[in-house]
Amino acid sequence: IGQTVRYYKTTTSTNEVAKDLARQGITEGAIIITEEQSKGRGRLGRTWQCPPRTGLCFSVVLFPRANPMEVPQFTMLAAVAVVKALYRTLGLRAQVKWPNDVYIEGLKICGILAEMAAEADRVKYVVLGIGLNVNQSKEDLVCFGNTATSLRVQLGRTLLRSQILKVLLEELDNLYTLWQQEGFLPLKGLWRDNALWIGNKVQVSGLNSNYQGTMEGIDDGGALLLRLYDGTIKTFYSGEVSLRPA
Ligand code: ATP
Ligand code: BTN
Repeated sequence: IGQTVRYYKTTTSTNEVAKDLARQGITEGAIIITEEQSKGRGRLGRTWQCPPRTGLCFSVVLFPRANPMEVPQFTMLAAVAVVKALYRTLGLRAQVKWPNDVYIEGLKICGILAEMAAEADRVKYVVLGIGLNVNQSKEDLVCFGNTATSLRVQLGRTLLRSQILKVLLEELDNLYTLWQQEGFLPLKGLWRDNALWIGNKVQVSGLNSNYQGTMEGIDDGGALLLRLYDGTIKTFYSGEVSLRPA
């Protein structure tokens, strides 16, 4: 991963560019990286905002032998890779938040957006977009209320984004190879070891639904397991819902 790099000073969204290039058959593992996005996107139509040259904003093109149901696993794979890279490069302890974020000290530092195309239940490509807050100042983050942080805010100094990128690409490569060889099971373990709120009271909300219970963990496919107060377990898939503390 990262053998082929397409760099843009500015672009709409690296996920959009990556999907175009995936359709055109760019090599697997290519990354599309930019200093500035005019249409950075998050999940569920939300926006991703990052001042020019402050964060790491990039997308990886993958051609996995997978079915569409498995695609959320790549989001979780990327989240684990971010946690590992932050620990290896900076000694920081971050946590994964189901389904697609990385948190440090209760604040969001990274968001991941996996998109795909499929045909007849086979995935044609997956685009894995990663936005990591690196050198944003406190002022850059006030627009998110008290919900976001950056590596600079955590550590009190600016960082070289290229160093973090290099290690992050290595971790993504290692975990993608692991997925190809052994499937999601070992990743499920790694994810769980670093997960936020397991055993805690949480709330899972969708468009027309709202459930409270105890977060049990994830199932063998990566879906969220919630123990309701009557003791039954309910399963949630990542396309539909948001998770927060209750
Ligand atoms: P959930 O993932 O649980 O549904 P979320 O608020 O994390 O909730 P996402 O869709 O994952 O939602 O992320 C998009 C949201 O992230 C945006 O609505 C915005 O509030 C926030 N956001 C946008 N840019 C950044 C950033 N650079 N750092 C932190 N948060 C950001
Ligand atoms: C989220 O938190 O919901 C996901 C945010 C994903 C942001 C990254 S930045 C690189 C790539 N391009 C995008 O437009 N989004 C992803």
